[in-house]
Amino acid sequence: MSDSVLVTGVDELATGSPQPVENGSVDEDGLCILRGAALVVQDGRVAWLGPADRAPAADRCIDLGGRAVVPGFVDSHAHLVFAGDRAAEFEARMTGTPYGAGGIRTTVAATRAADDELLRGNVRRLVGEMARQGTTTIECKTGYGLTVGDEARAIRIAHEECDAATFLGAHVVPAEYADRRDAYVDLVRGPMLAACAPYADYVDVFCEHGAFDEDETRLILDAAKGHGLAVRLHANQLGHGPGVQLAVEYGAASADHCTYLSDEDIAALAGATSAGSTTVATLLPGVEFSTRSPYPDARRLIEAGATVAIATDCNPGSCYTSSMPFCIALAVREMRMSPAQALLAATLGGARALRRTDVGHLTVGARADFAVLDAPSYLHLAYRPGVPLVTSTFKAGTKVGNDEVESNGLNPYR
Ligand code: NIG
Ligand code: FE
Repeated sequence: MSDSVLVTGVDELATGSPQPVENGSVDEDGLCILRGAALVVQDGRVAWLGPADRAPAADRCIDLGGRAVVPGFVDSHAHLVFAGDRAAEFEARMTGTPYGAGGIRTTVAATRAADDELLRGNVRRLVGEMARQGTTTIECKTGYGLTVGDEARAIRIAHEECDAATFLGAHVVPAEYADRRDAYVDLVRGPMLAACAPYADYVDVFCEHGAFDEDETRLILDAAKGHGLAVRLHANQLGHGPGVQLAVEYGAASADHCTYLSDEDIAALAGATSAGSTTVATLLPGVEFSTRSPYPDARRLIEAGATVAIATDCNPGSCYTSSMPFCIALAVREMRMSPAQALLAATLGGARALRRTDVGHLTVGARADFAVLDAPSYLHLAYRPGVPLVTSTFKAGTKVGNDEVESNGLNPYR
């Protein structure tokens, strides 16, 4: 058993769970807040949490000096295994060239040309960036290899460096298969999937005009199920289409993007939640920001009863941010989420999108994942956009990222 650590000086603790705690209050969005809190961490888990004046003794103490603590963010959608960047494509987009799926091929060429060390180093760099911004659980997709060998090395790296690994061989049809689409789909659902399955937690398909159509998506999802793998989908990003309905039909863990939703799509997502077979609607506001697309209405989804997550979609094409706080701020400003709804979507919602019950909230028994904010309240995440408020991040009770934290003994908020 490891030493127990008492974390004090928590002026505001957002537990990320609707479960009430002593002296805490649960708001109308289901966020439980406790002021003057403390928590005890042992063996990487939350062993106790409650009012600071009732805290039990522990082997060691960390005084956060009056800051706010939130659960570590769960970034349930990211594409980190790639080489190069597409800054020039972004620049062109900002002067009028629309985003399209074809840009993915630029990154495929750079990724294929990179050695393993470079790819792994890039993933680690981005994981570090994420940790410094409060993220403690990361899902990572393949999708820039698109050969059996390149996808296999990508899924291995994703599996080794991140918390969940998703096989996305069906990201786009690579140039060498441009006039043999069927052969590529057969490759993906055959040898490529077989090579990647041992390292994959999920299979994903970019179901979109310019990527894979409904029939192709069905073939790949069926093959995934044949391997006993859970699925998730890139759905309704560039226009209306069958993606969301397919995700719900296949019991996908999430339908991601959801930029263009019909009433039927919203009803399907809400129905999935009420039927208990939750397909989470994962919203990626950084993509709408970076591609100048319209933002979906998150509040409408939530009011209909859907389970909603927010993630970064960190990738070199449609959105190169690693910042969950930035995405929270966008979701509040542009998607009509309340700050509490956005925090829950970035924590508990992300955990649900990854079907994890041990992360995304701070309750006794949960993994001790939390971010310390240099702010008196989680509200500042949306209120102070672009400001590096996360002073330290703990994953399973251990500090991650490189920043120096800890209290200097002064509390600027009291
Ligand atoms: O989620 N939409 C598909 N894939 C990524 C973008 C990939 C890229 O442009 O490189 C996304 O937006
Ligand atoms: Fe994506």
